[in-house]
Amino acid sequence: MGISHTRCVHNNSQFKVQPLFTKSIKYSTTIKPILDKHCIECHGLEATESGLDLRTLKSILNGGESGPSIIKNKPNESLLLELIEDQIMPPEGASLRKKQIKRLRSWISSGASA
Ligand code: HEC
Repeated sequence: MGISHTRCVHNNSQFKVQPLFTKSIKYSTTIKPILDKHCIECHGLEATESGLDLRTLKSILNGGESGPSIIKNKPNESLLLELIEDQIMPPEGASLRKKQIKRLRSWISSGASA
């Protein structure tokens, strides 16, 4: 892996510079697979612990007994992230990798797009 360069898009006589770093993280492609693998067994499939179903973005936003599990743009107020970062969730099985936790944080910070 090398250092990413900025891409120059020539558009008539003008050109714009688009940084390649602004890769947006989406629920459907990046976040759902993480939650499907590590969370939904207890939150949606075999049980719905604390009333929380983590199978859809809508049910994540609705949250469980403690209220919404994520707050868009506010990672530090998002219970889901807090419990993962404090290694409380998942209570059994493999913990999330640092990279996955970073992606969750960036996704919430950037507005939790679908
Ligand atoms: C082995 C089962 C299990 C797995 C896997 C699991 N959880 Fe949980 N989760 C629980 C239980 C049990 C509670 C209730 C804890 C309590 O009330 O003390 C809970 C509670 C929660 C809550 C609080 C909900 C509320 O509104 O009070 C959140 C948020 C949460 N889990 C997120 C996650 C996330 C995110 C994952 C995946 C990274 C995950 N959990 C994986 C069992 C699980």
